[in-house]
Amino acid sequence: SDLTSPPAERTLILVKPDGVARGLAGEILRRVEAKGYSLVAVELRTASAELLGAHYAEHEGKPFYPPLVEFMASGPVLAVVAEGQRVIEGFRALAGTTDPSSAAPGTIRGDLGRDWGLKVQQNLVHGSDSPESAAREIALWFPAL
Ligand code: TYD
Ligand code: MG
Repeated sequence: SDLTSPPAERTLILVKPDGVARGLAGEILRRVEAKGYSLVAVELRTASAELLGAHYAEHEGKPFYPPLVEFMASGPVLAVVAEGQRVIEGFRALAGTTDPSSAAPGTIRGDLGRDWGLKVQQNLVHGSDSPESAAREIALWFPAL
């Protein structure tokens, strides 16, 4: 196997409205920084339905898409660009599986997504799932980067 260091890459992370409202933005950023990733851009904002619709375009037409976009527009999100080796898959590993009720201990969703009465959409964070998604999402949220 080739153990040479891969080049740094960037990912888009969102602390969703539930994470901001519960005061977990700092704890989530702490985990990102503790892993060794660098923060490139951070912005707290309430996103428009247009931006969120584009962000989640891959899910358009699925039953959870309208409530997902509505939820994501319901309050401020912390949008973050983080950088580091393998940060795209690395942040997904830090986040844990989509459904917090099955996310492993040690992950953001596993440790902090504690209320099983919540909907799956209220799973604290978003992370880009591929280099193509990361480039697309970073351009949507931070066009100046
Ligand atoms: P997805 O991209 O599949 O998950 P992830 O955030 O882990 O990349 O789905 C986007 C979001 O949509 C997900 O974070 C939560 C929500 N969602 C639902 O509400 N119900 C569902 O059945 C799925 C698959 C996702
Ligand atoms: Mg996804």
